[in-house]
Amino acid sequence: MSFTLWFTGLSGAGKTTLSRCVYLELRRRGLAAELLDGDIIRTNFSSELGFSRRDRDVNVRRIGFVSHLLNRHGVVSVVAAIAPYALARAQNRELLENYVEVFVNCPLEVTERRDVKGLYARARAGQISNFTGVSDPYEEPRTPEVTCFTDREDVATSVGRVLEYLQDKGLAPPAADCQPGEDCERADRQWRSRLARLGYARAD
Ligand code: ADX
Repeated sequence: MSFTLWFTGLSGAGKTTLSRCVYLELRRRGLAAELLDGDIIRTNFSSELGFSRRDRDVNVRRIGFVSHLLNRHGVVSVVAAIAPYALARAQNRELLENYVEVFVNCPLEVTERRDVKGLYARARAGQISNFTGVSDPYEEPRTPEVTCFTDREDVATSVGRVLEYLQDKGLAPPAADCQPGEDCERADRQWRSRLARLGYARAD
């Protein structure tokens, strides 16, 4: 049975990093999986959308629907998107038969100090409006399946906790039960750069 694993949290909390590690490990363990990163989705399915509540809800519902289609055919969907509104997340939970929410919990002071993409500084300077955590809300999940505290645990610990949850629920086989499977990291990187070359993704 398939499932959707949704990493929600502030910009810069670590959603992309964690989702990518978990996705690669699931592939290694032999599961068919797709990674839907907010940035890729916005480039290809939601380029007309901005960051108003309505636009974010449309974006989050679209990702939910694509995940539903993937899951229907046995493909795991691993999502990294802020999804700041509890109601839109709840609608996806209702649509998706196996919805696993991972709260990538990192205090705003820390994501802002990291400011990986320089967006917080621009938001504080008033150059970006409706910026999550600064001038737009983030409704924290109250009952996520898993919480990762990325300000005080390392990537391996967070990834390990997510995989353990999936194993406990019978959604992913333990590594020990798997043949050393496909290591798709390199192939995935090549695929990403091809997408970037063709304009379907931003260059890393
Ligand atoms: S969501 O709210 O619709 O789920 P999504 O995850 O797709 O958001 O996109 C968030 C990404 O868009 C951030 O990581 C950041 O790079 C970029 N971004 C640009 N403007 C904003 C904004 N106003 N608020 C949050 N993120 C923004």
